[in-house]
Amino acid sequence: MSRYHEVYRAWQTDPEGFWAEAAREIDWFEPWQKVFDPYAGQYGRWFAGGICNTAYNCLDRHLPARADQPALIYDSPVTETKEKYTYAQLRDEVAVLAGVIQDLGVRKGDRVIIYMPMIPEAVIAMLACARIGAIHSVVFGGFAAKELATRIDDAKPKLVLSASCGIEPGRIVAYKPLLDEAIAQAQHKPQQCLIYQRPIEEAQLVPGRDHDWSERLAAAKAAGRAAECVPLAATDPLYILYTSGTTGQPKGVVRDNGGHMVALKWSMRNIYGIEPGEVYWAASDVGWVVGHSYIVYAPLLHGATTVLFEGKPVGTPDAGVFWRVIAEHKVAALFTAPTAFRAIKKEDPEGQFIGNYDLSHFRTLFFAGERADPDTIQWAERHLGVPVIDHWWQTETGWAIAANPVGLGALPVKYGSPSVPMPGYDVRILDEGQKELPAGETGAIVVKLPLPPGCLPTLWQNDARFRESYLAEFPGYYKTADAGYIDEDGYIYVMARTDDIINVAGHRLSTGAMEEVIAEHKDVAECAVIGIADSLKGQVPAGFLVLNAGVARPESEIESEVVAMVRARIGPVAAFKTAITVKRLPKTRSGKILRGTMRKIADGEDYKMPATIDDPAILEEIAEALAARGLPAARS
Ligand code: COA
Ligand code: AMP
Repeated sequence: MSRYHEVYRAWQTDPEGFWAEAAREIDWFEPWQKVFDPYAGQYGRWFAGGICNTAYNCLDRHLPARADQPALIYDSPVTETKEKYTYAQLRDEVAVLAGVIQDLGVRKGDRVIIYMPMIPEAVIAMLACARIGAIHSVVFGGFAAKELATRIDDAKPKLVLSASCGIEPGRIVAYKPLLDEAIAQAQHKPQQCLIYQRPIEEAQLVPGRDHDWSERLAAAKAAGRAAECVPLAATDPLYILYTSGTTGQPKGVVRDNGGHMVALKWSMRNIYGIEPGEVYWAASDVGWVVGHSYIVYAPLLHGATTVLFEGKPVGTPDAGVFWRVIAEHKVAALFTAPTAFRAIKKEDPEGQFIGNYDLSHFRTLFFAGERADPDTIQWAERHLGVPVIDHWWQTETGWAIAANPVGLGALPVKYGSPSVPMPGYDVRILDEGQKELPAGETGAIVVKLPLPPGCLPTLWQNDARFRESYLAEFPGYYKTADAGYIDEDGYIYVMARTDDIINVAGHRLSTGAMEEVIAEHKDVAECAVIGIADSLKGQVPAGFLVLNAGVARPESEIESEVVAMVRARIGPVAAFKTAITVKRLPKTRSGKILRGTMRKIADGEDYKMPATIDDPAILEEIAEALAARGLPAARS
């Protein structure tokens, strides 16, 4: 029997009592004055008045009981390296780096950008910032210089922590030239950079600005330099994580210290069913929210061992690497995006690699980041023989809105649904007129305010954009920008985004941002980017271009240039490889591009001729252009 309903009801009956109880699992330097202050911030603030430190709770607090337990296991098939850091070692490394960062002039409240590959130094950097109250902002390595520059201009960091390179299968990604270019493009110029030189490819340091990480660390260690944990308000920001919005300007999601710790700690036992001392692996990247919450903060807050994996599900070296890591490190739970399993399934459809490994410690597989297709879930269930749990969340929330909480006792699985709302989330379905819809009817998925601890209190220095993006459309509710329905049993079904965000290999991308880049091509008169179905990545972007009159160059040349522009400006992670020239774009009579209908045509779905369409013949033209690329074309 699952305790879920009882626990959810306990939260509904007394939300503040529920979170106050959960907060006992955290060490506070000074207790909060109010569990929830409804008058503070944009919709209230959690644990107002409390004084705490996240790095203290992740590391120092565990030392009496776990000094010699591995805190972090680094497994890097791309460099053939494996390293373990005990809690004591990780605390010491973090304290020394925190001292170095302070010596570079960084103080509580200053921002530090972290642009790093999946190496232990990235985790150490995040925790070092947390230790001294510097607000970190990690930028994913697959983003281009322009995206990094945008984040530098918004966060205005005093310091950038980076490394010479990242390693992608078959190529080395030199990070330092991207960083130099980003700083050249940005208005705000960070005064200092600390660069970790990876032996595989070292970078040129800029005299006066760049410092060698290892040299600074060695000097600090020799001098016995280590920073103490700085007491912080529970409501002080821990980090800013930029995520795609509907324009080229990403949203700076703010995370606080107190509520974040309470929610993540609660989630480890109750959602993931993990006990302190067990090994937990989130196969994501520290550049994404999953990496923040479940590679770094939650497992360490819980006293578990976290795995930092620098590799891919396939090709490093083969489709058995996930099972090798699970067996070798005795992983109890794995959390990844379904796309990783689609990649494995494609290479090893019969799951033959699985039999080569001892997976006896492995209990549960968790999926999130994109819709989990039933095929992939069932493949994993069949071959691994463990429960496969889909759960739904967003960068904004920092932890699951809906899940099947195995720690409370799993509920029956319904394929296609990430199951039920977690305590703290009162999820409703509203229509455009803000009326609540009955079970089974699709509408906007919203969460009744206040959001629970751990969710964003605002956007970085932009309360107005926070209100406008999330609170304005449905007063009293947080708009998730996902659409879906809730069934008779209270299971949530997340079907689509209501904005222009697409989900490519579990990565969240804005088609609007891609359109902004393409529109800058001198031969492009107008364009539309849509996400089309892809059997591996879930969705991939496709761009439709209308060229200026009189352009005589070959269309294929312009299409290649546009593809290169998106890669150079947004980054390889956009996976933008399809640009198609068309004569005209389908529009409504008021001039709105019919992107939804174009997507249906591209995906071979049935569509209704929009009543407001200006010229129906254009849809035929789009279908023909897609068919010429081998893409399905449906007719109504
Ligand atoms: N630094 C630099 N480049 C990066 C990068 C990084 N950290 N991460 C990805 N890229 C590049 C890739 O090399 C690829 O470049 P290419 O166009 O030259 O091939 C491009 O960005 C697209 O990357 P990705 O979408 O990851 O596709 P892929 O084909 O390399 O791998 C998967 C496909 C499914 C194996 C991969 O996406 C994966 O492992 N996904 C796991 C899910 C995940 O991490 N989700 C995050 C949220 S939970
Ligand atoms: P991100 O902020 O990158 O985590 O992306 C969040 C978005 O990914 C959500 O708003 C959803 O659109 C989608 N998403 C994440 N998890 C799921 C899931 N389990 N099922 C369906 N969609 C999901």
